[in-house]
Amino acid sequence: MTAVDTNIDMNRIPAHVAIIMDGNGRWAEKRKLPRVMGHNAGMKAMKEIVKRASVLGIKHLTVYAFSTENWKRTEEEVKGIFGLLVKYVDNELKELDENNVKVNILGDFSVIPGDALERVNTAIERTKDNDGLVFNIALNYGSRLEMIQAVREIGEKVKKGEIAPEDVDEDLISGCLMTGHLGIPDPDLLIRTSGEIRISNFLMWQIAYSEMIFTDVLWPDFTPEKFEEAIVEFQSRDRRFGGRNK
Ligand code: FPP
Repeated sequence: MTAVDTNIDMNRIPAHVAIIMDGNGRWAEKRKLPRVMGHNAGMKAMKEIVKRASVLGIKHLTVYAFSTENWKRTEEEVKGIFGLLVKYVDNELKELDENNVKVNILGDFSVIPGDALERVNTAIERTKDNDGLVFNIALNYGSRLEMIQAVREIGEKVKKGEIAPEDVDEDLISGCLMTGHLGIPDPDLLIRTSGEIRISNFLMWQIAYSEMIFTDVLWPDFTPEKFEEAIVEFQSRDRRFGGRNK
């Protein structure tokens, strides 16, 4: 493993980094390879970023692995992505656990293929007491779906008379989102690879004050060094949360 970038201020590491891992398909197309080979390379890149996030002392890393819209892709590609999830857990769970990483899933993962579901449940169970990096994998996740579920949950509370409509505030909504249920704070930094400048239904409530970094690098080429460059850039930003520093 390469040494940590000396430009990083280890006292100001972001607590939560969220990543939209985009560009696997284009990476494969450029090499005349099937798309799933791009996802395979993307899985390898993800593996390295998880390790580096853990070394850097980042508390939460959240990756967008499969959105509620990704079911529109061909059956072959969908199968390929979940096959890679199985491979990732089979190959990496032991090391993740040894490194004190806790695995969480964001999204309605009950509907994913059976072998992937089994691996995911095993990973959650095996790592549930770990207190190092919290690695959140968004699987069949969509921000709108998450908001719908939160509104329904709040509606139920109002209906039962547990709260009044005027009790609905930011904290209540945050707590009813999937991230709230899992105790995941809002991201400090959102990274999207592959040159696309959009959010694609990812953590839309939670990124209200996140710093954003968009890079042209395709996800499979996103190395731990590039990840650290993004953290250096994050540390150079002046976060004011709508207020003023001076
Ligand atoms: C976006 O690239 C990537 C995805 C939809 C899948 C992300 C999956 C992995 C990184 C590997 C699998 C890991 C797990 C944990 C399931 P794209 O296909 O949209 O790329 P393109 O925009 O170039 O077509």
